[in-house]
Amino acid sequence: MSADTQVARQLPPGPDSPFDINTTEEAFLKIPELLAQYGNLVRVPSPQRESDSYLVNDPEYIRHILVKNHANYNKGPGFSRVKMLLGNGIIVSDGAFWRRQRRMIQPAFNRRVIAVLSQQIAQCNRELFEQWSAKADNNETIDLTEAAAELSLLVILRVLFSEDLDRLFDEQGGNPFAFLTQDLTRDMKVVLRFRSLTKIMQALIDWRREVQPKRFDFLAMFMEARDKETGEAMTDKELMDELMTLIIAGHETSAITLNWSWYFIANHPDVEQRALAEVESIYSTGTPDFDDLTNMNYIRQLVSEALRHYPPVWLFSRTAIGDDKLGDYDVPAGTDIFISPYYIHRHPDYWPDADRFDPERFTSEAEKTRPATAYIPFSAGPRRCIGDFFAMVEMQIHFSMMLPAFHMEYLDETPLELEPFINLRTKHGLRYRISNR
Ligand code: HEM
Repeated sequence: MSADTQVARQLPPGPDSPFDINTTEEAFLKIPELLAQYGNLVRVPSPQRESDSYLVNDPEYIRHILVKNHANYNKGPGFSRVKMLLGNGIIVSDGAFWRRQRRMIQPAFNRRVIAVLSQQIAQCNRELFEQWSAKADNNETIDLTEAAAELSLLVILRVLFSEDLDRLFDEQGGNPFAFLTQDLTRDMKVVLRFRSLTKIMQALIDWRREVQPKRFDFLAMFMEARDKETGEAMTDKELMDELMTLIIAGHETSAITLNWSWYFIANHPDVEQRALAEVESIYSTGTPDFDDLTNMNYIRQLVSEALRHYPPVWLFSRTAIGDDKLGDYDVPAGTDIFISPYYIHRHPDYWPDADRFDPERFTSEAEKTRPATAYIPFSAGPRRCIGDFFAMVEMQIHFSMMLPAFHMEYLDETPLELEPFINLRTKHGLRYRISNR
């Protein structure tokens, strides 16, 4: 870039010294300092890359990047680590390939499909219900963080592979994916172990092609999906990357959401009572059907508020393809953009008394009073989470089954510690005493 263009450009304020905005504890602590000092748009020189990083904490600018001018932004540097794990799956891919994959995968997430798959989700919860019943009879202590991780993993595996999951468990002598909930480091060792699971999945795909069993699950839909323009199916490599992507994207985020939702329920008796009353009002009229479940508004509100406090994806990134503008400021091509759901969810202009847990923030009237992009646990625009509705259904099924039966007494007295890595988790498992209602 010549000196002339540099002078002509209007760049946002920010520090002179480089800082690596990333999914680390250091960045988690530094970001609020930068926002307090420089405002809602901060330019931060990067220690590794030539182009600057912009930290964006303004709903209008966020809307510009994710929605209005999304075509000018690719997935950013934060995704290179995820790429090792997920190959070129839909979370990390860009451009025409991403569009094609999204078109092929999207139908699996429509309401009618999820209505059928909700039976599988309920079945996973029934298994957990049995385990919790036995523990509640003895008022045992449970590690809910662990239980939520196991449940969410089982749910995504069930909707992917349905009854073939049992065959897979039998052949492998247990759940070959279980280490994902036990080893949370996501280091190279885990990456290699995870990628080695492709063999198991390939064997399942080969078996399905040969035997052609009738199945209604995500795998069947992805195997049958055809590109509208070319009529081509996904290659096995593409299929594998997408399966891996859904397993990772679909379980840890949901597990964290369950973990936090229980935490707030257990620590707010008034919220617990209202949620319980809502579930009972629906159950008392008979067995809830799918529409009843998805109409559980208070549960949706409390889960939304938990996601506001602790969005599992607390930081994500984009890279500008061409030059752009945010307000009066220039965004040169190559600029890396960092958006933090965690910090925009605490912005005092949109979230008064942000530390207070208040599901009333998510009534439909309250939602109309603020810009939609002040709340982005699932991101926004065309790259918005494909599983947002699925995740909410998962939460609604879980709480509608568990709340009427069990009371959780929160046991940990030490202050909560956060672990802000790729996902925002609690550093330690949260423990509760479980009892029957
Ligand atoms: C509460 C739970 C969840 C949260 C908070 C969450 C959050 C997110 C966020 C923030 C993104 C977008 C990141 C970006 O814009 O760069 C995303 C994308 C994605 N999520 Fe989720 N997610 C959740 C559950 C799920 C579930 C259950 C699935 C699948 C079953 C899923 C699959 C995906 C996929 C495939 C993408 C990539 C979409 C694309 O780029 O086209 N997520 N998620």
